[in-house]
Amino acid sequence: MKLVAVNASFRGRRGKTAHFLDLMLAGAASSGAQIDRIDLADLELKHCLDCQRCQKPTFLASCVLKDDAASVFDRMRQADLLLFGTPVYTLGMSSLLKTLFERYYFTANVRSFELTKSGLFFHNVDPALCRKPFVSLVVCDNLMDETVKNARQYFHLYGQFMDAPHVGDLFRKSASLSESDGQSPVEKAYFQAGTELALRGRISRATQKAANSSLVLLPPFVQWSWVRRLLAKSRSARAKIEARHRTVMDAAVNR
Ligand SMILES: Cc1cc2nc3c(=O)[nH]c(=O)nc-3n(C[C@H](O)[C@H](O)[C@H](O)COP(=O)(O)O)c2cc1C
Repeated sequence: MKLVAVNASFRGRRGKTAHFLDLMLAGAASSGAQIDRIDLADLELKHCLDCQRCQKPTFLASCVLKDDAASVFDRMRQADLLLFGTPVYTLGMSSLLKTLFERYYFTANVRSFELTKSGLFFHNVDPALCRKPFVSLVVCDNLMDETVKNARQYFHLYGQFMDAPHVGDLFRKSASLSESDGQSPVEKAYFQAGTELALRGRISRATQKAANSSLVLLPPFVQWSWVRRLLAKSRSARAKIEARHRTVMDAAVNR
């Protein structure tokens, strides 16, 4: 079993995304898996220009752009299971990861369409690249479920369009509050997730729940968006929510 982790944080190895990916990789390695971590921030990745050169019969499956995309794809092809880790940047996945996914375009003939197991039509992408089981990890500072929603939804659709089993849906809200000594319950859950991936090829529900558990206990008026929406109509209540939220976010940012 080989796990390849793609870290799409611009902070590379110094970031929280790398920290949680590393915990999973360590868990997997302790159970005999081979591991590889790709830090996209260390590499050169250019944007797909939609020049269509890759789709000309004489030029199929290679790209005019000279950068590291092809070598990243080669490493991903070696994987039995992929881990995609991304921070939330402005409510979605990082542009680094999106840039990588856009470059899938040159890996196959996009004029050939396939009906996926989920009943969706999508143009061809190299199946050796995109059909692998994968785990998604979305990391952010904010405390609200809405912050990770876009990226999580993207990965859900990715699994459906690519016919790729989505074997783990991890999200770490208020990541700046997380410990980094490997001993907290959340960190132990990430390590455990890695061992489960190595041994069983998926993360159990209990482990996923522990890994995704909240690091801060919020009063309902801050935690639930429908309560916030109701209270936001009153100026004084809004000020109270903002103040409470600011306290927690300050703690996160100043850590
Ligand atoms: C450009 C930029 C945009 C960000 N946008 C958000 C955001 O919309 N919501 C959020 O909760 N955090 C946001 N963050 C914070 C990051 O998600 C957070 O710091 C995360 O831990 C970064 O991952 P890393 O530690 O692996 O680099 C943003 C950070 C940057 C640099």
